Amino acid sequence: MSTAIDYARYDRVRPIRWAGDALELLDQRKLPFAVEYVRCADSAAVAEAIANLTVRGAPAIGIAAGWGTVLAARDVQATDGAAALEQLQPALQALNASRPTAVNLAWALARMRKVLTTAGADWRESLLCEAQVIADEDLAANRRMGELGAALIEPGSGVLTHCNTGSLATAGFGTALGVIRAGVAQGRIGRVFAGETRPWLQGARLTVWELQQDGIDATLIADSAAAHLMKTGAVQWVIVGADRICANGDSANKIGTYSLAIAARHHGVKVMVVAPSSTVDMQTTSGEAIEIEQRDPGELFGIGGVRTVAEGIHAWNPVFDVTPGELIDAIVSERGVIERPDRAAMQTMFAGH
Ligand code: MRU
Repeated sequence: MSTAIDYARYDRVRPIRWAGDALELLDQRKLPFAVEYVRCADSAAVAEAIANLTVRGAPAIGIAAGWGTVLAARDVQATDGAAALEQLQPALQALNASRPTAVNLAWALARMRKVLTTAGADWRESLLCEAQVIADEDLAANRRMGELGAALIEPGSGVLTHCNTGSLATAGFGTALGVIRAGVAQGRIGRVFAGETRPWLQGARLTVWELQQDGIDATLIADSAAAHLMKTGAVQWVIVGADRICANGDSANKIGTYSLAIAARHHGVKVMVVAPSSTVDMQTTSGEAIEIEQRDPGELFGIGGVRTVAEGIHAWNPVFDVTPGELIDAIVSERGVIERPDRAAMQTMFAGH
């Protein structure tokens, strides 16, 4: 079995481009039928793009927020980083408030803040450099996680993924989708299934399109077909990403992940959560403390702009849920693999994080 991964072949999409004077974001609201970049010339535009899902996925919104900070700095006159930080506070707060659940957003902004606290007159260059390092580290982490996660998969396995955790959601290669890319490249994964991911359809609109760009065949299923699929024996692993992993291993991810984990345990299918250490939040002790984003109930009232629900109906639209650590078989980060995560194992791997 070959273990080398041809990244030029298995990683063709880039959602975030720094243009020197603006941030260009691949508009994920329009995929798969239009491949268009939105130009954000200031930090308010970046915050808006995060809130309206032009850019989405936990690592990607952290990276975008880093570049948003660089854009905000263009309006600041200061002689050192500490003075700049004071002036940047409103922009940093607006970026931080753009989405609540993924901790990568606050994590990236904390890194940008930290750089400023020690920077001198060259604080602008330091900010620029940090934004680029955040992106570069994410790509490197994804490639490492791809290798670590794929090594857990028996040759010939079928896998099911949820939402979009690929290049589109990161600096490149992806988290859970990176493991799937690596597993396919190494001949370990025989079949890939992707859930539609109602209501925003990240699986149907983004994941299967992204895999198609790499020539990876994926089979789309309705979210509600997942338990039935598991019962057929066609999948051995559910492989998903995360928006926040707590100190006890509880993991927030796209709504529907928790149902998948329950169904997986019932059918003897294993669950792998793949996320960089930037998604780990050791300050949040358990999943109950995670803020779950509620989005416009209107997302449930139609598809592609066509209303499918009678007028006057109420809807509830939480877009994340929390999978308890005890339903997770492996958490894969760039630091290593935690099998059957619990507080002690998390503390050992992420002490001081
Ligand atoms: O609402 P989204 O599309 O931003 O939700 C994304 C997810 O839930 C992903 O699984 C998670 O952010 C990990 S992306 C590598």
